[in-house]
Amino acid sequence: MADLFDKIAKNMGPIGEHHKASHGYFTFPKLEGEIDTYMGFRGKKMLNWSLNNYLGLANHPEVRKADADAAKEFGLALPMGARMMSGNSDHHEAFEKELSDFESKEATFLLNFGYQGVLSAIDALVDRRDVIVYDAESHACIIDGVRLHQGKRFVYSHNDMQSLEKQLQRATKLVEETGGAILVITEGVFGMRGDVGALDKIVALKKRYQFRLMVDDAHGFGTMGKTGAGTGEHFGVQDGIDIYFATFAKSMAGIGAFISSKKEIITFLQYNMRSQIFAKSLPMPLVVGMRKRLELIKRMPELKDNLWKNVHALQAGLRENGLEIGPTQSPVTPVYLSGSIPEATHMVYDLRENYNIFCSMVTYPVIPKGMIILRLIPTALHTLDDVAKTLSAFKAVAVKLKSGEYAKHDKIVEGVAQ
Ligand SMILES: Cc1ncc(COP(=O)(O)O)c(C=O)c1O
Repeated sequence: MADLFDKIAKNMGPIGEHHKASHGYFTFPKLEGEIDTYMGFRGKKMLNWSLNNYLGLANHPEVRKADADAAKEFGLALPMGARMMSGNSDHHEAFEKELSDFESKEATFLLNFGYQGVLSAIDALVDRRDVIVYDAESHACIIDGVRLHQGKRFVYSHNDMQSLEKQLQRATKLVEETGGAILVITEGVFGMRGDVGALDKIVALKKRYQFRLMVDDAHGFGTMGKTGAGTGEHFGVQDGIDIYFATFAKSMAGIGAFISSKKEIITFLQYNMRSQIFAKSLPMPLVVGMRKRLELIKRMPELKDNLWKNVHALQAGLRENGLEIGPTQSPVTPVYLSGSIPEATHMVYDLRENYNIFCSMVTYPVIPKGMIILRLIPTALHTLDDVAKTLSAFKAVAVKLKSGEYAKHDKIVEGVAQ
């Protein structure tokens, strides 16, 4: 028999196993100063490509004022209690109406956090007779929601419509026996690869199969589509999305999330989502602050235009310099590396220490084993000069990577943990 704590100490998990060497540098780094394109890291100013502040709203003066004024007016405690009990307010309801209009949906429900929200919505929507069919590269919140499901779940190969159709056929057969229903789940923009879910094709499959479609558009909200309403708008299939989800943690540079659908489905979720029934309501300053952000998204399309100008320049430049960025169609810009984790840490260390470029490194289990991604997130605040500096740094490190300079190391960078 083992002692639980001894067992854990011997196996800290796939990322945790590196904590002694990496804590404070590669993992849990501390960025200093105001949220901006340049931020401090260990006493140096670095050009930052690691913030999900797509539209640059985090520090917009109107946002900062709205956040501060709301905190002053309401405090952080209001409203007390869960939404259903004592946590409702006019602001919550008005914001839900604004989001419904923006997303062309009948109704909306605010959620405290995106991760719990998706998990809990999936849990509420399906029962043991139903089948979930979901994309293999879905975000952890979808995977974990699917794990809660007591019925069958069929995974389809990432964005592969043949595979989806095959799973829909299996699912259809099954629910014809159980009397259940089918829920298909995908991301709108896949947050790691940046490719978009084939929503047009998935929606077209509804003509031949009976299912409801749920889309996690965390990275598409604010960035995709003519008005920023997301990946459904981008494809012109917003009507075909039965349950639309987005978080406030990306384009809105805030905290919280929402889910939009038909009125009766939202009413069902209001009365059945455990993450909302058994948890305190979103605090008032967040709701008021998010309303201001949505107003700016609608009023200032130039933010999205500027974001895309930077996205195009950065992605074209990386490709021209021979870096592999895959099939991204969104601002998410992954630079794919094959090699060991030690090799990747030496490259990231070089980028930070010698070129003053800060970007994040993503490894298993966030992405499949053997893959390493340096993930860059352009924002509306970056300039073409920032892009040029970054491209010249990446060009230099790519040469070193190819020549095997970083591969000389068989241990991750040592002596940087704090
Ligand atoms: C695709 C996707 N879904 C959901 C979430 C969770 O959102 P939140 O940060 O609001 O919990 C994220 C954020 O990392 C995400 O990328």
